[in-house]
Amino acid sequence: MYFDADSPVLHRIVDDLADKGWSQQDAFLPDALIAQLATECRARDAAGKLAAAAIGRGEGQAVREGIRGDRIQWIEPGQSAACDLYLGALDALRLQINRALFLGLEDFEGHFALYPPGAFYQKHLDRFRDDDRRAISAVLYLNHDWPVTQGGELRMYFADERTLDLSPLASRLVVFLSGEFPHEVLPASHDRLSLTGWFRRRGDALL
Ligand code: OGA
Ligand code: MN
Repeated sequence: MYFDADSPVLHRIVDDLADKGWSQQDAFLPDALIAQLATECRARDAAGKLAAAAIGRGEGQAVREGIRGDRIQWIEPGQSAACDLYLGALDALRLQINRALFLGLEDFEGHFALYPPGAFYQKHLDRFRDDDRRAISAVLYLNHDWPVTQGGELRMYFADERTLDLSPLASRLVVFLSGEFPHEVLPASHDRLSLTGWFRRRGDALL
C-alpha cells in the first residue's frame, strides 16, 4: 500500500479539488510500478484484450472513431499485483476525498487505454446524459521517455476560456470534477498509454 490517510500527495489533491476543481500531480506512483503497468497494458493489447472504446451507455452506446480512437480494457481487482496496487492507491484517494469534501464517492471504475499514433478523443465532458454518477475523473499516464514533440496532450478547458495542455508523462496523475471541465486528447505520433478512471457517487441513475 502506497498511501495512508496522512499522505501529503493525497492532501494536495484534496486541497486543489476544493480550491479549483482539478489537480495535477507528477510522480504519483513509483517508477517501477508505472513501468509494470505500461508493460501490462501492452501485453493486454498484444493479446487482443483491448477493444475500440465506445461512447455513451446502454442502447446509445456506439463505437465512433471520429470521436475517440483509443482501445480500452476495464480492470478488475485480482487481475495483477500492479493493477491491485493502482486500485489501492486510487481507493486511498477516494477515502481521503470523502473524508475532506463529503462527496460520498462510493466506488471506482477504471480502464487501460491505448491511443495508437494519430488517435484522439474530441472535446467532451465525462458524464453520460443518462447516468450522472461519475463525479471525479482521474487519469494516470504510463509513458516513459515522452518528448513534448510527440504530442498526445490532454487539453483542459476552463470556464474563463483559458486552456492548458498537459503531456501524458509517466506517473503524472490528473484529477478533475467530471461534470465541470471539458477536455480532449490530442493526437500523438507514438502509442499513448494511460489508466483512466472515475469515482462514482451512489446510483440514482435514470436508467
Ligand atoms: C477519457 C479521457 C483523457 C486522457 O478517457 O474520458 O478524457 O488524457 N481521457 O487520456
Ligand atoms: Mn474524458
